[in-house]
Amino acid sequence: MPINKKIRELQEKREKIHLGGGEQAIKKQKAMGKRTARERIMALLDENSFNEYDLFVEHDARDFDMDKKSLPSDGVIIGSGTIYGAPVAIFAQDFTVAGGSLGLMHSRKITKIMDHALKMRMPLIGINDSGGARIQEGVNSLAGYGEIFFRNTISSGVIPQLSVILGPCAGGAVYSPALTDFVFVVDKISKMFITGPEVIKTVLGEEISMEELGGARVHSEVTGNAHFFAMSEEECFDQIKKLITFIPWNNGQKARMFEPGEPKPEYNINKIVPEDPTLPYDVKDVIRAIVDNSDFFEIMELYAKNIVIGFGRMGGRTTGFVANQPLEMAGVLDVDSSDKAARFIRYCDAFNIPIITLVDVPGYLPGVDQEHAGVIRHGAKVLYAYSEATVPKLTVILRKAYGGGYIAMSSRHLRADFVFAWPSAEIAVMGPEGAANIIFRKEIMSSDDPDRMRKQKVEEYKTKFANPYVAASRGYVDAVIEPSETRKFLMHSIEVSENKDVSMPQKKHGLPPF
Ligand code: HXC
Repeated sequence: MPINKKIRELQEKREKIHLGGGEQAIKKQKAMGKRTARERIMALLDENSFNEYDLFVEHDARDFDMDKKSLPSDGVIIGSGTIYGAPVAIFAQDFTVAGGSLGLMHSRKITKIMDHALKMRMPLIGINDSGGARIQEGVNSLAGYGEIFFRNTISSGVIPQLSVILGPCAGGAVYSPALTDFVFVVDKISKMFITGPEVIKTVLGEEISMEELGGARVHSEVTGNAHFFAMSEEECFDQIKKLITFIPWNNGQKARMFEPGEPKPEYNINKIVPEDPTLPYDVKDVIRAIVDNSDFFEIMELYAKNIVIGFGRMGGRTTGFVANQPLEMAGVLDVDSSDKAARFIRYCDAFNIPIITLVDVPGYLPGVDQEHAGVIRHGAKVLYAYSEATVPKLTVILRKAYGGGYIAMSSRHLRADFVFAWPSAEIAVMGPEGAANIIFRKEIMSSDDPDRMRKQKVEEYKTKFANPYVAASRGYVDAVIEPSETRKFLMHSIEVSENKDVSMPQKKHGLPPF
């Protein structure tokens, strides 16, 4: 056969497979506001950068008439490409082929690209759109999932792993995303659940829609399973691309440097924190007043809003931010915010990203609900994550730093490298009101005018303790700085921490309070 004919034959074979489950199935996919698997890869990667592998892989299942069925590419596309020049390995499940269900060969394609990503030390992106284990292939499908989960775990902390949920993600299939670093969801399109509405109806007799059970909003606002929420696939891909610019390709590298730019003047750092310590403010404005170009990329924006996490750049270097948010529940620490912060701290530590912590915390949230939900165990995760982290750790105490919150929020005692405090900082065991009521109770009760005496004692306590100078006199705070000096102090601290080198005692691994 002449070579041109052979090339034409290859082209025809490719074109046929590129049609996936066929025009009808593609129409159905589009009607749901979804792109095809191939379109998704093309939209996400740099133009002409995608190299596809295993296009011709077919399943070899025999039961339930499977021997009569051809499933193009076995319902998943794998390959590698680049995003803004950064190499990435990628797989995208094709729902138009047997509902993107995962059979043995489908799973082998995914594990092949996972192995490739780990060996080449590049990020892995998985686009999930699947009815879960391919029922006709029985235990082979389950084996396939097991192989994926194992690799997710082994790759954890070595290469970044991103999961994009662009359709159903049912049954055990949700556990691969849950083992990865970042989960992206899109309104109305993404669904994640272990047992679907049908099973719930059969077992519990309860009716619930897929959306209410495990839609994008549920996982962004309630469960905390999702890190990024978007209104469309397009917005979701923009988020993925932006994230890729902030993170290194693997744990042996640092994130790429970008040309630094000054924060925008509209974020006037001197005016953000109100003089009255009981008034709230948006801590994201403080972050925007500090980071390059005021560009703050928030993570888990809709979950446990009392703590803010995300990436920004300081002098061109990626930096992780953890900040109490006085706008939500006065910025207390609780079960959910502790989980949110602790995992992010560990992410930054695994991938060589310095952490800046902005503190304004009245302490841990009191109450039976929190105690019974395990605030001791979950709160301890923050202590563990900060203590264990060896990346540069910089802390700025903006206002309240009370009790356990003071210790937990990257204090000197958990080995923060630099601790700064604004003059508005109040570092104490508890707030002045509570403290005065306890330690001066006898004087207050026996006074002719208890209210006046209480006020006087509160003022006394404030003067003595509700300031940064006691902590500064012990060296727990390195410098009391003006808000306008914050960026300068932090940039310098990050610069001098460039070659930070600390070692931990030899161990197989620690036992964080999971
Ligand atoms: C084989 C499947 C499939 C599956 C869907 N399909 N899921 N084939 N195995 N798990 C096929 C359908 O038969 C159909 O084929 C095509 O995909 C499209 O599916 P529809 O049902 O028509 O689509 P839709 O109405 O959009 O509903 C999507 C869905 C639903 C919600 C995902 O298909 C569904 O509930 N599927 C089963 C989900 C599930 O229970 N999975 C197993 C979980 S157990 P045709 O030929 O008609 O086009 C599990 C265990 C793993 O995953 C454990 C690991 C630890």
